[in-house]
Amino acid sequence: MYVILNAAMSVDGKISTKNNDSSISSKMDLIRVHKLRSSVDGIMVGISTVLMDNPILSVRFPTRSTKNPTRIIIDSNARIPLDSNIIRSSKKIQTIIATTHHASPRKIKQIQNKAAQVIVTGNRKVNIKKLFQILEKMSFKKILVEGGGEINWSVLKLGIINELIVTISPVVVGGRDAKTLVEGVGFENISNGIKLKLSNTIIQNKNEIVLFYKLR
Ligand SMILES: NC(=O)c1ccc[n+]([C@@H]2O[C@H](COP(=O)([O-])OP(=O)(O)OC[C@H]3O[C@@H](n4cnc5c(N)ncnc54)[C@H](OP(=O)(O)O)[C@@H]3O)[C@@H](O)[C@H]2O)c1
Repeated sequence: MYVILNAAMSVDGKISTKNNDSSISSKMDLIRVHKLRSSVDGIMVGISTVLMDNPILSVRFPTRSTKNPTRIIIDSNARIPLDSNIIRSSKKIQTIIATTHHASPRKIKQIQNKAAQVIVTGNRKVNIKKLFQILEKMSFKKILVEGGGEINWSVLKLGIINELIVTISPVVVGGRDAKTLVEGVGFENISNGIKLKLSNTIIQNKNEIVLFYKLR
């Protein structure tokens, strides 16, 4: 399986502001991301991203596509609202809610009744390593991880990312409570950090840079 992590951040490394405004990408970058989405089998995000942004995670730029990747939501307690854009569109676009044994069986049933598939793995937190093994058995070949910071940490720490694509938007937002590209507990020393190899760079709209890294 090939796994790509894509995110857009401010120059100071924030993926959203302290008020959870995450509209960082330019239109040109959105077109790039939606093209990337159209090349994968699955798009994965954490439940906080769903709760904060209410995304639909479909392919819409430059034009709406009829073929969308499966949305995979990491949601330990099955907190996803039944009226969220993801659940509301799950009859049209395949959806997987990855949850744990801790989630309410009643809520799991309600999600399934809305045509979303539920995968249960892990006790308190979704076991992402096992989830990827399950997705591989289900014939997923290419997955795009689209955040947020906690999920980015979990997948990077597991060593399952092949490629990291980061758009640096020419803006500084600050804020100690604003989410950064990678959250989690982090490494203690730089020497333990995840090593990257720059494979390409693109400059968009004069001031926006897209960095393409391969994991070493
Ligand atoms: N600029 C960008 O490219 C971009 C992209 C995406 C999101 N964002 C922004 O990022 C922010 C959300 O990021 P976030 O870091 O707060 O949350 P997140 O990564 O979207 O979701 C984190 C949540 O996922 C659940 N989870 C379950 N199992 C997990 C595991 N093994 N590892 C990690 N998380 C697990 C946890 O909640 P439970 O315990 O309840 O399951 C956890 O709190 C939003 O403001 C959004 O707008 C920006």
